Amino acid sequence: MLGWRSDVLVRPAKAGDASPLVKVFAESWRGAYAGVIPQKNLDGIIQRRTKAWWTAAIRGGDGLLVVEHAGAIAGYATYGAARGRGRQQGEIYELYIAPIYQGVGLGEHLFEACRARLDGRGLRGLVVWALAENAAASDFYWRRGGRPFNTIREGFGNTQLEKVGFCWA
Ligand SMILES: CC(C)(COP(=O)(O)OP(=O)(O)OC[C@H]1O[C@@H](n2cnc3c(N)ncnc32)[C@H](O)[C@@H]1OP(=O)(O)O)[C@@H](O)C(=O)NCCC(=O)NCCS
Repeated sequence: MLGWRSDVLVRPAKAGDASPLVKVFAESWRGAYAGVIPQKNLDGIIQRRTKAWWTAAIRGGDGLLVVEHAGAIAGYATYGAARGRGRQQGEIYELYIAPIYQGVGLGEHLFEACRARLDGRGLRGLVVWALAENAAASDFYWRRGGRPFNTIREGFGNTQLEKVGFCWA
């Protein structure tokens, strides 16, 4: 667990964040999935996360946090009610830190903030899904106490990729 840091701020996304989120999304998804998700599909996913998409998500209200480092948006997370029918009621849908900001503790701050907000909503237990090929993400969740409980396959074009579900009691 990290202590308080004056250069790091986790907060709900606000209107002016839409443009930086387009960039953070593109950089973090390319960094995580280039060579894993087929290029054409990855390009499509990134192209769909337009400024308008983020503006609508921000207007939608709760469930979208950003982490700022020294005033710049370094990453984001989305969270809410678990989509599956398991015992865990909360889910972090996406948690992404831009590559140049990775490994300095920002992901941990964001993760803890999501957990606190899910707790605050009365959602008990947590699920996160990560691509099996994304070893860094699996390691990160394992070290935060998550344990694999299920796998599913997801199709990207003709490529089937395995996703691992991590859960916290
Ligand atoms: C996986 C990911 C979210 C992790 O976030 P991150 O900011 O890189 O990770 P952190 O720096 O918070 O944590 C990494 C480790 O470094 C430690 N650390 C690094 N710098 C630190 C610092 N300055 N102070 C304290 N701890 C630090 C953390 O405690 C943590 O250690 P541990 O996991 O052994 O306990 C991030 O790398 C990422 O976005 N990756 C690409 C996208 C992705 O895979 N997302 C998840 C999809 S499911």
